[in-house]
Amino acid sequence: MKKIVLGAILLGLSQTVFATEILPTQVPVPKDNPLTEEKIELGKQLYFDPRLSSSGTISCNSCHNVMAGGEDNRNVSVGIEGKTGGRSAPTVWNSAFYSVQFWDGRAPTLEEQAKGPITNPVEMGLPSHKVAVERIKSLKGYEVQFKKVFGGSNPVTIDNIAKAIASYERTLVTPDAPFDLYLKGDKKAMTEEQIKGFELFKTVGCTSCHTGPIFAGPTLPVGTGFYMKFPTFPGTEFDKKYEFSKDLGRYDQTKNEAEKNMWRVPTLRNVALTAPYFHNGAVKTLDEAVKVMAKTQLNKDLSKDEVKKIAAFLHSLTGKFPEQKMPHLPMN
Ligand code: HEC
Ligand code: HEC
Repeated sequence: MKKIVLGAILLGLSQTVFATEILPTQVPVPKDNPLTEEKIELGKQLYFDPRLSSSGTISCNSCHNVMAGGEDNRNVSVGIEGKTGGRSAPTVWNSAFYSVQFWDGRAPTLEEQAKGPITNPVEMGLPSHKVAVERIKSLKGYEVQFKKVFGGSNPVTIDNIAKAIASYERTLVTPDAPFDLYLKGDKKAMTEEQIKGFELFKTVGCTSCHTGPIFAGPTLPVGTGFYMKFPTFPGTEFDKKYEFSKDLGRYDQTKNEAEKNMWRVPTLRNVALTAPYFHNGAVKTLDEAVKVMAKTQLNKDLSKDEVKKIAAFLHSLTGKFPEQKMPHLPMN
């Protein structure tokens, strides 16, 4: 497994070997959690339900607003009692395409990820998963649905809560961005400026990392992340100003020296909607984020015009958001 990742990294850095692709409409689905309509609906209710937090005020949607770009547009998120963590909320749109979750890839799947925030003291703050399960069980409307979806004598479990939420998240896909339509043959879908920006995106070297269907690198097996050092060229004015090197990224999980300041390459789909940028949300505009990337990852200074074109291209990655019906939550 390690060898494959290393190979991908080496190949990725040496040249553009992975192509950019149309966003598939089918997401990968794990064998032990098949998608069903009832499960998706149940997961949607749980996703919007603030009763999964200690104060009864914070739901997944508080920090990952699916009526907008799938995050909170804050530098760092605000959870129960106004508490803040150290990282910016990534978008949940298209997160089903990742082979690992979180900025540092510490969760392999959406199922594993979904269990975290419920008991995270600065997010939803419940004392334990047991308490979460008891709260859901106490609501008959939920119990009936869990029985129907999962069966068995004890269907309300933290694993099943996570499975339902993950299933809803697998519907959060935004196809048919101007870029996709362009690749499908509609040459008018992108503006001249965006097309030039796409060319620059490739020639400057952004595609050595941001490729594949969500521009987060090649598709790898579940649990294997596509990680890169950020900053690859440390000590620049940007690094100092925005304190990128402060958070050690994967190292905090693995304690492996070689993984200091390593981060999963994030998606660029809908990136025009998800300011502020980077793991610490330190950069306010997309133009500045493009400048930062060129300097910190490729040691290149882009002209104002080049930055503008690349940013215009990134705007062409904003997809179509599916119509959604607000869920009705069980009240007893
Ligand atoms: C208080 C704000 C907050 C709440 C509430 C919250 N999240 Fe998050 N979420 C975050 C932050 C911040 C991160 C990034 C943390 C990191 O990478 O270390 C994150 C990461 C994620 C990711 C990973 C996305 C990616 O690109 O890797 C997913 C998926 C996600 N959250 C889903 C959920 C779900 C489902 C819930 C509800 C059960 C939830 N979140 C509740 C703030 C929040
Ligand atoms: C060597 C790999 C690499 C290269 C080359 C690279 N990036 Fe990145 N990019 C990353 C990583 C890793 C991150 C996440 C950094 C973090 O915040 O921890 C990132 C983050 C971003 C973000 C912010 C995403 C967000 O949600 O906050 C943007 C925008 C971006 N890159 C655009 C570009 C552009 C444009 C180029 C070319 C000028 C480029 N990248 C080149 C690896 C790379």
